[in-house]
Order: sequence, then structure tokens, then C-alpha cells
Amino acid sequence: MKTIYSAIQPSGELTIGNFLGTLKGWKDFQDEYKCLFGVADMHAITVRQNPQLLRERTKKLLAIYLATGLDPDKSIIYVNSHVKQHAELGWVLHTYTNLGQLNRMHQFKSKIKDNEERANVGLYCYPVLMASDILLYDTDFVPVGDDQKQHVEITRDIAERFNSIYGDTFTIPEPLINKSGSRIKSLQDPTVKMSKSDPNPNAFILLLEEYNVMKKKISRAVTDSIGEINYSEDQPGIMNLLDIYKACNNEDMDTIFAKFEGQNYGYLKREVTEALETTIGPVREKTKDYLNNEDYLLEVAKKGSEKASEIAEKTLAKVYDKIGFLRSI
Ligand code: TYM
Repeated sequence: MKTIYSAIQPSGELTIGNFLGTLKGWKDFQDEYKCLFGVADMHAITVRQNPQLLRERTKKLLAIYLATGLDPDKSIIYVNSHVKQHAELGWVLHTYTNLGQLNRMHQFKSKIKDNEERANVGLYCYPVLMASDILLYDTDFVPVGDDQKQHVEITRDIAERFNSIYGDTFTIPEPLINKSGSRIKSLQDPTVKMSKSDPNPNAFILLLEEYNVMKKKISRAVTDSIGEINYSEDQPGIMNLLDIYKACNNEDMDTIFAKFEGQNYGYLKREVTEALETTIGPVREKTKDYLNNEDYLLEVAKKGSEKASEIAEKTLAKVYDKIGFLRSI
């Protein structure tokens, strides 16, 4: 059985970008693959977090995972900081990563923008921690949105470099990027990614947003003055709405065009709103239920971390042996 690994940071509320981009599809892997899904709290602290809020969001993300259909009897669902091997392998991998490679990471560059001097080193090294997450579990496939592709590529480079020195040690992972939904754009500026950290709340829709708020945000989404519904780079706002619709319904583009041909933007927005509600509405309700059962969430995380640690320890021991660390007795 091949292995799937993915994770999401509990650094803020999830948007529909996180969900449609990748999370929505995770449950479908569970019968065919060995799956591990982490709550990447160790990544989240690369941006300063309120400790109480971080704990709450970590639980909320566990609840969301379960609400989307992830099943702790089929998948390993856990919190990354509960498995100490992430940090340990992470340190080793830093010594197999070139500065030049990290300097090329788009996400780091866009996150530091004009504030390079004050950016913390963790933010810079974060792709190495992500490589550690992935490589600890002999991962074959990493389902992610488009913005994480470069991080999976650096993971492959690090693994290949290590393997070329010490012989076959790590499985070389491949990113799995959805055909639709992997690049959900801002509703206010459809040339940039939808992001929870956007200062304009009308730019994003949260996964757990109530129907009326979501409806209002879609009705305010930026379109254009062309007045025709085409899937074209010249109409990024319309393209984004069609992408959201497609990611919700999994319909092919021909069916979608037949439905929207000759219709106006108001109709498109109403249909997108309803498609989205049908997709995220049940997740919102189930998340509330799981959040009411905190003991269960903690139990899931505990069992998940025990299973994950067992696998991670084997990989770490293999790596320590290869690089020449003396085994303790
Ligand atoms: P994060 O928490 O920023 O995002 C979680 C997932 O959501 C995807 N995503 C999007 N997809 C489509 N459209 C968007 N607008 C959009 N915004 C976000 C992301 O691509 C991602 O798949 N470093 C990772 C978390 C991580 C990880 C890992 C992932 C830590 N360790 C190991 C895979 C494997 C991150 O910050 O994702």
C-alpha cells in the first residue's frame, strides 16, 4: 500500500481555499492508501501565535478533519508537536539543505516582503521541517494546493541528496495537485491566492462561515464588465467563481458551460453560493458537534500520535545509523 501524507497549519481559520484545494479530497484516499494527516502546529509558530488561540485552533482543526470524513480507524490523525521525531529529523535535514535552495522559496519571499530583517529564522527554514514531516513516513504522495508544490519539490531534492550519499533511505514523494480548486483566488483581487491573512475579510470565505455571510461575500465578489461567462484568463473573477463551482460539484467543464451559457453574473453567483453551501454546510455542522466532544478529539490525537511515533522512530533510527550517531545502550 502506498502512503499519503498531508498537513494543515492551525494558524488561523481555514478558508474554502484550504478545503477545496486539498482537504475535501483526503477522505477518498483512506481505503486505497495508508494515510497520515497532521495538524502542523510546529509550522504555525513561524508566525507569532496567541498560545490559547493556537490550542483552540489545533482542536478545531482536528474537529474539521473528522467532520470532512477522515476516520481515525483508517487514517493516522495527529498533532505534529506530539511526535518529537519531526523536530529531530528536521535538524538533520537542515544539514542537507542548501541556502541557495531556501533562498528561492516563493512563499518565504512573499511572506517577508519589506520586512526581511525581522523575519524569524523558522520562517526561512520551514520547508525543511515540512520535508521532515513528509520523509519520516516513507510518503509516496503529498496532496496539497498549488502553493505548496515548491515545498514538495525541495523535499524531493533533500531526500535525493541524502540517498545519493547514504544509499536508499527516503522514499521520494510526489505532490498530488487537484485539477480544479488547487488555486482558489481572492474574491476581491482574483489575481492573488485566497488567504486567511488577507486584511480584507471580503476577499476570503472561511470554511466554517455561516451561510448568510458567505452569500454576501460571493455577491460582492469582483467580476468584470464583459458580461459573458467564459473560462478565460481575461476574466479572472469569473474564472475563480467557475473554479469554486467546479471544485464543489466535480462536474466537467462542458456540463458547466452548458449550464451557464447565456446567463448573467447574478445567476452564476447564486449557483456558486448554493454549490458551496451544499459542500461546506455539512462540514460546518459536524465540526460543531465534534467540538462539543473535546475528550474524543484528544483521544484521537493521542492514538494518532502513538501510531505516527512508531513509524517515525524507525525512520529516525535508520537515519541516525547512516550518518554515524552512536546508538545509546
Ligand atoms: P497551509 O496550512 O497554508 O494550507 C493547507 C493546504 O491548503 C492549500 N491551500 C490552498 N489551496 C487552494 N487554493 C488556496 N487559495 C489555498 N490556500 C491554501 C495549501 O496548498 C495546503 O495544501 N506547509 C503547509 C502545511 C504542511 C504540510 C506538511 C503539507 C506542513 N507539513 C507536510 C503537506 C505535507 C501549509 O502551510 O499549508
